[in-house]
Amino acid sequence: MSDGFPEKTITQVYGDFATGKTTLCLQLCSQSFKIGKKSIYVDTEGSFSPERLLQINPEMDLKKILVFEPYSFEDQCEVLEKLEETVDDEIGCIIVDSMVSLYRLKGGTYDEKRDLNRLLGKQLLNLSKIARNYNIPVVITNQIYEDFDNGITPLGGSVLRYWSKIIIKLEKIPEKIGQRKATLVKHKYKKEGDFCEFLLTDAGII
Ligand SMILES: Nc1ncnc2c1ncn2[C@@H]1O[C@H](COP(=O)(O)OP(=O)(O)OP(=O)(O)O)[C@@H](O)[C@H]1O
Ligand SMILES: [Mg+2]
Repeated sequence: MSDGFPEKTITQVYGDFATGKTTLCLQLCSQSFKIGKKSIYVDTEGSFSPERLLQINPEMDLKKILVFEPYSFEDQCEVLEKLEETVDDEIGCIIVDSMVSLYRLKGGTYDEKRDLNRLLGKQLLNLSKIARNYNIPVVITNQIYEDFDNGITPLGGSVLRYWSKIIIKLEKIPEKIGQRKATLVKHKYKKEGDFCEFLLTDAGII
């Protein structure tokens, strides 16, 4: 979308809790609606809020959002494997919020983790194909964890890093209530490290 996320691309937005990831996703639904398109919202953690969406865009028709609510990583695999059956030219964007909350609940041995990563890769490949076939943006959110060696790190490892052709980090700005910072961590044609500050408001992100 011209004033939003690029088409044919998976963009990953990651950050700590309450940094604005879901708000950004809801705002993308609103932008999609404004150009006459529907959105697909895969909500893995009960984040989707019609109230917040209507706050962001009071004109929003909630029927224009197709919400999927997988409750396990297996459900998520099924939803994302069959997603193309739901996509047509009326769909303006796809959101997965978050890509990793159900994945992160699965522990397991090294072999089991390798299998999970393979499944995650398959889901991302599918999303990437849909983004390219239908010329639409796909936005996935990701969480962070604290690693003793590497500090604050996004989840999902190299699989998620590889498939996300654009990665944006969101952070709170200490002592500035409601203010956040977005930094480009990876981009196809923009400088890594570029950033902007934004505010969380009734109308979403400004
Ligand atoms: N109307 C509003 N005006 C200003 N700020 C708001 C409004 N509604 C929600 N917020 C703020 O937005 C933040 C939550 O944003 P959001 O849900 O997008 O975060 P998130 O990164 O998705 O968090 P999580 O990791 O918990 O899913 C909270 O700090 C909340 O106070
Ligand atoms: Mg959220």
